[in-house]
Amino acid sequence: MVSPSALFAAAAPEFLASEPQHPSAEQIELHDGLLDRPAHIDPKFLYDALGSSLFTAITQLPEYYPTRCEDEIFQRHGADIARHIGPVQAMIDLGAGDCVKAERLFPSLRPSHYVPVDISADYLQTAVRRLQLSYPDLRITAVGQDFSHELALPADVPAEQRLCFYPGSSIGNLGPDDAYAMLRRIRDACPGGGLLVGVDRVKPRSVLEPAYDDALHLTAAFNLNLLRHVNAVLDSDFNVEDWRHVALFNSERSRVEMHLEAQRALHVTWPGGHREFKRGERIHTENSYKFTPQAFSDLLHRAGFRDVAHWSDTRGWFSVFSARA
Ligand code: AVI
Repeated sequence: MVSPSALFAAAAPEFLASEPQHPSAEQIELHDGLLDRPAHIDPKFLYDALGSSLFTAITQLPEYYPTRCEDEIFQRHGADIARHIGPVQAMIDLGAGDCVKAERLFPSLRPSHYVPVDISADYLQTAVRRLQLSYPDLRITAVGQDFSHELALPADVPAEQRLCFYPGSSIGNLGPDDAYAMLRRIRDACPGGGLLVGVDRVKPRSVLEPAYDDALHLTAAFNLNLLRHVNAVLDSDFNVEDWRHVALFNSERSRVEMHLEAQRALHVTWPGGHREFKRGERIHTENSYKFTPQAFSDLLHRAGFRDVAHWSDTRGWFSVFSARA
């Protein structure tokens, strides 16, 4: 449920935040994941304020190609993509972050209402303040929401001419069932509207693994920072120095996996729980699925989308799909 709370004076962006989740919901999720075998933590815990900034830095790394490939597609094929999408009134930016990707499309898509949605409400609020200064006439309604289970858009966003923008291959961070459920949710949120989605493609391990294990160790910091975030939420006593970042391509499942590996035998405690980790034992923190264009087009059709079009970068490393809901 979204409840409006006007935090700014007139002519400022509106900011809507999800009702504060019951704090124990996240704690229970973490507790259960840590006691599972193997242990896992949902990748949404990568994105506290520092994690979001680290991710922005990662997108500038030479090894991390997806952002540059997607930019190339929008630059080379922007006009064609805009033609396929047609008129856009409200642009709903799923996982907006710093809002920069959507901003680059404003000249071609010309939305009158921009609705960025992001789990990291503080980060979004800063981004939106900056954006409103550059686009004083654009209506902006920022929504601080974890849209992984429910996509609750403000009621005054007209249903027709809604475009859901889901770039950066974020859909690849969901497992097959969750990706399908997310696409259904988007379709239901944009009846008669469109979807513009970025998807990373299957490619050699020699390209994939360095993209998730870079020479500057920014991705390692991004992954390890999750433990600090977990400590803040769960009041656990993870020591970042006891863990190391692991990234590997699982070709059978067509995904890059990130893990945190215990560097020695460890005992981690939190209120209401504790766990021993053997040296070398791992916590699974993220999957990043890689698709063939055919597999993703099939997924879109199965989720009920039609009129599917697809563009690639020159190397064929990344794809952007446009589809009608
Ligand atoms: C946000 N998401 C699409 C990124 C990815 O490539 O899966 C997150 C990321 N994880 C490590 N590096 C970047």
